[in-house]
Amino acid sequence: EQIHRFKGLNYLEKSLEKELNIRKVIIVPGNSDEDELILKDIGKATSNYIVDKLEKNSIIGITGGTTMAQVAEEMPVYKKKSDLLVLPARGGLGENVETQANNIAAKLAQKLCGNYKLLHVPDNLSEEAMEALLSVKEIKEVVDIMRNINMLVFGIGRADIMASRRHFSDDVVKHLCENRAVAESFGHYFNTKGKIIWETNTIGISLSDFKNIKTIIGVASGENKAEAIISICRLKEDMTLITDEGAAKKILNIV
Ligand code: BG6
Repeated sequence: EQIHRFKGLNYLEKSLEKELNIRKVIIVPGNSDEDELILKDIGKATSNYIVDKLEKNSIIGITGGTTMAQVAEEMPVYKKKSDLLVLPARGGLGENVETQANNIAAKLAQKLCGNYKLLHVPDNLSEEAMEALLSVKEIKEVVDIMRNINMLVFGIGRADIMASRRHFSDDVVKHLCENRAVAESFGHYFNTKGKIIWETNTIGISLSDFKNIKTIIGVASGENKAEAIISICRLKEDMTLITDEGAAKKILNIV
């Protein structure tokens, strides 16, 4: 029965790669909308994949969120010191400390026995504040390293949910609604076609940085994120998506 199920998931993965037109899809069984424990499996599958793709001097960028928090949580502890470096992919302090990118980056680095850098920068900066922060030596240093990120592991959110989690103003919410934003990743909001609608004003990787990163791993589960996943997969063909059966089946019905 298990082999049959495995074969079924394999078929789903191939179908989703074709449908979304991306390089690789990994699917874990179940639907995290119905069973929260599935997020743990997503964390495990992602941490295995990260370890598989690590290179000697990997510079890993990671975003915040509950999914990324599980990735760091499920990463096994390595004892052999490595030169790899983990950074938060973008500023923004998020809703609570456990799901902040800084915290997740530090935890992941410790588990992998590597190094980390933190970025203490809030979301929604004014132009002046941004310029001032970029002239601070410690921040400039992290920003420069960020340009060399060669592996990005990121969460994918629904635009509406992320807008309310981040307490956006009515004007921004209206703009996102009117332009039919469906997805959010690394502070950028996109419509179903993957067209950018808005981005938060903070320091970190931009859409053009994203397009130039060698190893891109997007992670999101639950059928409620189907549309958001479709949108983000339009950004780059050469990416890997790690998702669950719930999201995969929903996508294959609606693409
Ligand atoms: C945020 C990331 O913290 O988590 C976002 O910065 C991402 O880019 C979001 O969309 C996803 O959150 P979750 O909790 O659904 O994994």
